Amino acid sequence: MKVISIANQKGGCGKTTTAINLSACLAFKGRKVLLIDMDPQAHSTIGLNINTNESGNSVYAALCEFEGKKVALGDVTVQISEGFDFIPANMHLSTFEQKLSMMPGREKRLKEAIEELHQNYDYTLIDCPPSLGLLTFNSLMASNEVLIPIDMGFFSLHGTGQLLEIIELVRNKTGHEIAVKALATMYDRRTRIAKEILEDIRDHFKGSTLKTVINLNVKLKEAASYGKSILDYDRKSQGYKDYLELAGEVLDGNRLFGYLQPAEQKAPSLIPNHVKKELVLRAPHAKSVKIAGSFNNWTPTNDYLMDQTEDGQWSKVLSLAPGEYQYKFVIDDEIWVEDEGNYRVKIDPYYGKNSVLVVS
Ligand SMILES: Nc1ncnc2c1ncn2[C@@H]1O[C@H](COP(=O)(O)OP(=O)(O)OP(=O)(O)O)[C@@H](O)[C@H]1O
Ligand SMILES: [Mg+2]
Repeated sequence: MKVISIANQKGGCGKTTTAINLSACLAFKGRKVLLIDMDPQAHSTIGLNINTNESGNSVYAALCEFEGKKVALGDVTVQISEGFDFIPANMHLSTFEQKLSMMPGREKRLKEAIEELHQNYDYTLIDCPPSLGLLTFNSLMASNEVLIPIDMGFFSLHGTGQLLEIIELVRNKTGHEIAVKALATMYDRRTRIAKEILEDIRDHFKGSTLKTVINLNVKLKEAASYGKSILDYDRKSQGYKDYLELAGEVLDGNRLFGYLQPAEQKAPSLIPNHVKKELVLRAPHAKSVKIAGSFNNWTPTNDYLMDQTEDGQWSKVLSLAPGEYQYKFVIDDEIWVEDEGNYRVKIDPYYGKNSVLVVS
């Protein structure tokens, strides 16, 4: 079984559209396919018209306990069509990161859950959320391949270096090769700018850009709003042709422009420069203070221990790639607090607020 994560932390670049339609087209070509929705937004689930209300019947219940019960992935599988099975998500999945933040082996939950399905499918596709947190990390850990949809916007390549760094980290952790493929999406062939951006993508991802290009096609949007794949919605559309061609290319690796070797993927232009940021906290009664955030999968290890600079003052310099991060301070290994000196906050789905750090 080949496991392919469809990942890019940039929102709205075509991950879900690709996950649904590539799965449907691979199944149409006679392969047994499983699609897993790993996004708390549950767009694949909604886009396939599956009821999202019950956490007990979602991927969440197979990764964490829900109401005291943990189930096997196979038990939450729904059949969409001949050869195409699906595992839904719902909003509960957003609590996954914090629920598992202190648990050993948290980054391998999905990999372990998928292993029991090895005999049942030729392909498992994973629709990742638009973030690089524990859900995406779990997906990458389970994958042999990562497909990165890139839309034709000005900033589309921004942030892909950070994703490649994480893929490299996962490669080192799992010890197995993870192939990376970039897929150009929402291509408007009438515009010159789209052609230029496509050239940029091919330049950046050199030999690992897929030959198939997914054109801008309103039928793909319509299909999702009717809860259908493009295969079931409109077989005359350009979107159908493109995704069928993509399925052919995925099945026939030789038609790729070529795989990149890991060493080439570390080309300097893809790895953004890290920037140093200092975080400080006044906590006179604390015995220790660590930092947990989206940059370390919410795991306050000793690498993120702050130094006590003067009486009651704690500080730590972090070296981070450009991007937006959320974090909290962890006092005495048990009390999680936001950074009161930082006015940028986001609602923490689990409790309170997370502080936001923007590195540019
Ligand atoms: N080739 C296309 N042509 C026209 N519309 C498209 C195309 N691909 C995707 N869309 C539309 O663009 C929007 C974003 O696409 P999609 O949901 O697949 O992105 P995503 O990367 O999964 O987003 P998120 O990061 O929020 O999960 C959707 O409304 C979708 O229907
Ligand atoms: Mg999506």
